Amino acid sequence: MKILFISSEVAPFSKTGGLGDVAGALPAALAALGHDVKVVTPRYRGLRDAGKLTPTGQSLVARFPFGEESGPILSARLSDNLEVLFLENEGFYGNRDGLYGDAWGEFGDNARRFAYLSVGALQAAQRLRFVPDIIHANDWQTGLVPVALQRGFRSTPLAGAKSVFTIHNLAYQGHFPKGAMDDLGLPWDVFTAEGGLEFYDAVNFLKGGLVFSDALTTVSPTYAREIQQPEQGYGLDGLLRRRAHRLHGILNGIDAEEWNPRTDPFLPARYGPLELDGKAVCKRELLARFGLPDGDAPVFAIVSRLAWQKGMDLLLEVLPTALQADIRFVGVGSGEGGLEEGLRALQARHPKQMAVHIGFDPALSHLVEAGADFFLMPSRYEPCGLNQMYSLRYGTVPIVRATGGLVDTVEGGLDGNGLLFEAFHPAALLGAIRRAMALYADRPRLAEFRRRGMEKDFSWNASARKYEALYTSLRAE
Ligand code: ADP
Ligand code: GLC
Repeated sequence: MKILFISSEVAPFSKTGGLGDVAGALPAALAALGHDVKVVTPRYRGLRDAGKLTPTGQSLVARFPFGEESGPILSARLSDNLEVLFLENEGFYGNRDGLYGDAWGEFGDNARRFAYLSVGALQAAQRLRFVPDIIHANDWQTGLVPVALQRGFRSTPLAGAKSVFTIHNLAYQGHFPKGAMDDLGLPWDVFTAEGGLEFYDAVNFLKGGLVFSDALTTVSPTYAREIQQPEQGYGLDGLLRRRAHRLHGILNGIDAEEWNPRTDPFLPARYGPLELDGKAVCKRELLARFGLPDGDAPVFAIVSRLAWQKGMDLLLEVLPTALQADIRFVGVGSGEGGLEEGLRALQARHPKQMAVHIGFDPALSHLVEAGADFFLMPSRYEPCGLNQMYSLRYGTVPIVRATGGLVDTVEGGLDGNGLLFEAFHPAALLGAIRRAMALYADRPRLAEFRRRGMEKDFSWNASARKYEALYTSLRAE
């Protein structure tokens, strides 16, 4: 099949979270199954591996009422049947740092920036004479793709494609004042609440994806159920219930090459389930890197966007109590200022037990996954979550709240591989941390937890086959 995959971030080139990881790994897994895959994404400033980009000799011109936007299409060919296409545009992507916003907040022209990505991706396919069977868009940034496909591109060869839209996070919807309709030249007949882009008198890009796609997916079976309920539905649960027959929960995989403790180049020593000595070396290195005294105390860790979703406020609430015991805590994260401050302040009070690195540092995140004993994810909600899978693979026992994809990947119980807690409440998280300390004290049982986690297969292969089956069934319709 020919698959056009569109995402606002693609690892390793650009990444702010799990979307980037998925958009890097899933297309590669589909290509490995023999499909012809092109991924389209913006050419941001400060792209990693920018040296791999070469001109395609093609460029595109998108006409909007606000003006004409154009730019070259660059390419990184990753294999015979996998190519990443980058849309270059100085005014939208090249003239600033940050993908969606900066210290001042979201960029004011995001509606235009991502309308350009959505329309530009379809145009890029045309320019390169790539006629896809499947057009797969992701999250609100590409919500206009299926809308454009059914409208502006109706009489082009692309119209024969089936569209798939994946929800990585329902809470981020891309709301814009309704003036965006005229600004972007969207037809007003799609500005309806029922079957259109309207959402409380504003434009909702995500809703475009949910309404106009042939199929919807989200990144875990549990989250697929949760978003059909008001509590996790963010105002769109009714729509999702109506489209439930079109909605599939397909669990994310992980890039098993990048996240492999046997070969990981970011680690001072490598290890596997049967030879864990290297993990102890990683723990020593981790403590040294964070300037904490060496010792045998259990190390708890986070690597996270510091956002409401991730329950970091709950963690800040219980850490002072947890740190009364002989434990260590290390954190890597960036995001909301208040949470960054909270972590720094706590570190200042417990300098011998706790250290944080505020920033986005992929290399350090590998060392944290390897060197920690326990990995904390007290999420309020979690569509899938990747870090708990990285932790399991690295023999680091995850402590997670029982929500979304965390339920689908971490096994609780006496013979499980991780620790789960239910209530979003300090006592529940603290209880889980205490259970972790008891587990740490029981080395044979801890070793069994680690082994069971490390032996699980979270590679993309199984999930990619599920997407393939979905694509095949859509084409047969
Ligand atoms: P989300 O996409 O909601 O942030 P995921 O668990 O799906 O959550 O994916 C997060 C990804 O981003 C993981 O690969 C994680 O390691 C990475 N990540 C998050 N924060 C940081 C950080 N401060 N430094 C390095 N990597 C980070
Ligand atoms: C989102 C979700 C996260 C998920 C990721 C990749 O950012 O918050 O849970 O793992 O997308 O699908």
